[in-house]
Amino acid sequence: MTTPRASSRQRRRAADAFSIEELRQRSAKVLPKGIFDFYDGGSEDESTLKENREQFSRYRFIPKYLCNVAEIDTGTDLLGTQASLPIAISPTGAIGYGWPRGEIAIARAARDAGVPYTLPTSSTCSIERLAHAVPDGRLWFQAYMLRKRDFTLGLIDKAKKAGYEALIITVDMPTGGKRERDMRNEFGLPFRFTAKNVLDFATHPGWVARLLRHGMPVLENMVGFVPDNISTSAIASSVGKNYDPAFCWDDLALIRDRWPGRLLIKGLLHPGDAQRAKQQGFDGIIISNHGGRQLDGAVGTLEALRAIRRAVGAEMHLLLDGGVRRGADIIKAIALGANAVMIGRPVLYGVSVAGQAGVERTLFLLNDELTRTMRLCGAANIGEITPELLGLHTI
Ligand SMILES: Cc1cc2nc3c(=O)[nH]c(=O)nc-3n(C[C@H](O)[C@H](O)[C@H](O)COP(=O)(O)O)c2cc1C
Repeated sequence: MTTPRASSRQRRRAADAFSIEELRQRSAKVLPKGIFDFYDGGSEDESTLKENREQFSRYRFIPKYLCNVAEIDTGTDLLGTQASLPIAISPTGAIGYGWPRGEIAIARAARDAGVPYTLPTSSTCSIERLAHAVPDGRLWFQAYMLRKRDFTLGLIDKAKKAGYEALIITVDMPTGGKRERDMRNEFGLPFRFTAKNVLDFATHPGWVARLLRHGMPVLENMVGFVPDNISTSAIASSVGKNYDPAFCWDDLALIRDRWPGRLLIKGLLHPGDAQRAKQQGFDGIIISNHGGRQLDGAVGTLEALRAIRRAVGAEMHLLLDGGVRRGADIIKAIALGANAVMIGRPVLYGVSVAGQAGVERTLFLLNDELTRTMRLCGAANIGEITPELLGLHTI
């Protein structure tokens, strides 16, 4: 089984969305509430989730006119390889609940748009299956350090064998965040049918029909993690519960020695941590607060970005995620020191609405807005996006 094609109705639903927010609203209609909230929500009061959006509106453009902006070049260097857009796709787990084997749909859309896709450990498609389905994509793999370290190291070896370009180690999850929407909806991993969620599903017959046709999603990378191979969703829970809270900087050396390709660390917000990552030989840092799903009250990523860029200097590759919903957000992040951004939920919204066609719509909208806003600002290429565009002399 690969990933189903969207029906013409589903494609129309995606094509009719003129912003990421409209795709979000459509995905809220097509998904059971429990699943939409699992994708959309953050932890506790969701203050970091909100801050990730609000931070962008604190910066305003001071455009320059009468520059030649007839040709706009959005291409940029991403970890030593040219990407068509300054975008990579963040790892998001359990995508199969939104679209069967949605990872394949997303990776194909990413390939066609010329940007990398990151497969998470808790994906519903295995490392090997994705590499086989999208051999010509730029594939990155994301790992958490689990208590059973050999299991994580085994996954890393599989990604190396399957030819993944980059490895991302996520470090902002020494324990799971408290996501109250999931608690309220009784949407948990392990997934259990309850009176509440059965009612929720019953009002989304299209989603149920898809589930019946394609089966319950399986966290394929985790098969074998639980010795007696209990239900798929029970395996899912073991990812969070088995994260190793004792994992620390010295342990990262183990991974650097094991992974010959590009190595990134995800989830840093502190400038001192970023300096340490640089010293330890990481090729890049992803400034992230896990999309507001972990530490509620954590600083917005744009603010963290400025401090980290100052701390690590101009050469270190910095990516940022959290709240990027407009082309203008991408420009602001680059002006404040990012090499590129990553996106999580915008892709989940797109894939839930129309599979690959929905993700194509997500990437089209961001590309279109990015190009338009660059032209309106007087920046013909990514190199011309500087702090001055936001009225700053320096980062
Ligand atoms: C449903 C969901 C699942 C996620 N799963 C993972 C994961 O497995 N590993 C990880 O490093 N980050 C995970 N993240 C965080 C994303 O990689 C990313 O940091 C975040 O979504 C960025 O914010 P945005 O959604 O506002 O773009 C997840 C995010 C969401 C929304």
